[in-house]
Amino acid sequence: MRVKLGVNVDHVATIRQARGTRYPDPVAAAMAAENAGADQITVHLREDRRHIQERDLTVLRETVQTHLNLEMAANEAMQAIALTVKPDVVTLVPEKRQELTTESGLNVIAMRNELRGVVVQLRRVGITVSIFVDPVGEQIDACREVGADSVELHTGTYCDARRSVERARELQRLREAAKRAKAHGMYVAAGHGLDYRNVADVVEINEIEELNIGHSIVARAFFVGFEQAVREMLAMLER
Ligand code: PXP
Repeated sequence: MRVKLGVNVDHVATIRQARGTRYPDPVAAAMAAENAGADQITVHLREDRRHIQERDLTVLRETVQTHLNLEMAANEAMQAIALTVKPDVVTLVPEKRQELTTESGLNVIAMRNELRGVVVQLRRVGITVSIFVDPVGEQIDACREVGADSVELHTGTYCDARRSVERARELQRLREAAKRAKAHGMYVAAGHGLDYRNVADVVEINEIEELNIGHSIVARAFFVGFEQAVREMLAMLER
């Protein structure tokens, strides 16, 4: 048994955008990831288009052979794009313009009413809807309430924890949140900040079926190549 791997190729586009070139192409990275055995390709189309562009999403929709997972803010403009492109999965994430990366999970409790509408619209055209949330019981319950198919648990606080007590506490929160989501009948994914060292303890949580990992894989790819970087991560996901 192996945990499924979604490879996030945003940072391949980050390098391209830094110089306004056509390379490196996140589409080529997605192909390499799939050749190496990845189960899904994940991209975040941000409002400020700092890395992934609409062109990338369109081409990926035509070329990805596994699953295409679009991370996006739950607003009307993004909803329209998703309804046109029809990725296999949409993961709703919070978005702030100034942030370096997604800083926390979506506050589903506070956004309950607007999220219900977004989830219904996306599911109506056959898109599986996931919500990126902090490992907090009430937020997981709210995901179920708004009709989400899946949750993606935010592993960022666990990954940032330096002291072992803190780390153990964060792992416990992830364990409990994963159990709760599974008990609601939802598919459980997790991600953010995971790397070749800290991923092992998360793999031990049986309810977690999928991990979405980007930065650490793209960083390792500089030294060993993209396919090898993905293969090494896949080997870490064996249970
Ligand atoms: N999952 C979600 C919802 C994210 O927003 C991100 C970052 O875009 C990731 C996973 C991947 O995080 P990282 O690049 O730190 O592996």
